[in-house]
Amino acid sequence: MSDALTLSVVIPTYKEVLNIPLISKAVGEALGDMPYEVIFVDDNSQDGSVEAVEKISHQYPVRIEVRTEERGLSTAVMHGIDQAKGEYIVVMDADLSHPATAIPKMLEKLIGGDADFIVGSRYVKGGSFDEDWGFFRLLNSKIATWLALPICHVKDPMSGFFSFKRSNMPAMHMLSPLGYKIGLEIMVKGRFKKPAEVPIHFIDREHGESKLDFKEQLLYLRHLRRLYRFKFPAASEFLQFGMVGGTGFLVDTFFYWALQTFFGLNHTVARAISFWPAVTWNWFWNRTLTFSDRKKGKKLSQWLGFVGTSLYGFAINVGSYHLLTDYVPFFSENKYLALMAGVLMGMGFNFMAARIFVFRKLDEEVEKETERPDHH
Ligand code: GDD
Ligand code: MN
Repeated sequence: MSDALTLSVVIPTYKEVLNIPLISKAVGEALGDMPYEVIFVDDNSQDGSVEAVEKISHQYPVRIEVRTEERGLSTAVMHGIDQAKGEYIVVMDADLSHPATAIPKMLEKLIGGDADFIVGSRYVKGGSFDEDWGFFRLLNSKIATWLALPICHVKDPMSGFFSFKRSNMPAMHMLSPLGYKIGLEIMVKGRFKKPAEVPIHFIDREHGESKLDFKEQLLYLRHLRRLYRFKFPAASEFLQFGMVGGTGFLVDTFFYWALQTFFGLNHTVARAISFWPAVTWNWFWNRTLTFSDRKKGKKLSQWLGFVGTSLYGFAINVGSYHLLTDYVPFFSENKYLALMAGVLMGMGFNFMAARIFVFRKLDEEVEKETERPDHH
């Protein structure tokens, strides 16, 4: 065995004084005489954690970093990785939920080269968790997991127990985790090609309490949206644009119906009026959702631009319907298909125009694109 430090175990802690000696012992026993270090990253718990680490530091290779300026699990983990010196990194919780005995199995896979990112997983064969998880906690966890599957290909992407080679860590400035899921963030942003899972039995904590609450779940949804956008930039925009358009169609239909039913308006007048709330709805949600990362242009001129491109899009939609049904025999027999083709062409035009002219890219982004030497 070489003298080089093989492994850094990063353990974020907040008020875990009772768990610190226990997890240190568990890690020590699991790793035997392998050269490793444990870095606790504590967010100024002031519960005696510093003294607890000091007390066992003669027995185990442990140290503690105390952060006073910042708080939060994800940035704590990033800080710990930044300080780490080992060739491999393991991140785990302090509360003994994650069995240290899984660490050697994780390393074996990494060193063997069959995988480049390892997750300690509750959801693969051999994995499990304590049964007193309530129905809602379970359902929650399942839905959250399911939502992340298209971007990461592991069965337990939420896991806070993971491992990878330090040289594969994505640059810190690439990371912008929202909330808790730092493992998912690193896995996706690092573009790891061969993720794998090691089964674990997840044990509920005995000391202290969990810090995961409802606010975290909302943050998770926003985080996911960001990661989808990172992984599939154009597709995620198109999907959101389509969803906004779909709800806009409902708004349109509602006004069309209500203006006739309650105000006795003629159907063409109702149609002409209902366009406005619908287009405004679409503009607003595209501004706040689909293109939220774009330049926040002046509202009125951006709205006018959006109305303009939508009118063009509508003209293309109706125009192509007429062209197709007048000149293409297939479509004169299948008018609904012509209608759909028109809608798709109009929407395609709207999407492109909105992307290019209405919701402009930030100046920095344009610069970045033109700077890049390999840009064709
Ligand atoms: N430094 C720091 N700062 N550490 C924190 C903070 C913080 O703000 N919040 C939590 N921690 C530490 C805890 O002390 C613990 O060691 C670890 O992060 C996990 O926190 P828990 O509060 O025990 O989280 P959990 O059990 O609800 O969630 C765990 O399981 C989830 C999956 O069910 C975590 O591993 C999550 O990452 C995981 O998604
Ligand atoms: Mn926990």
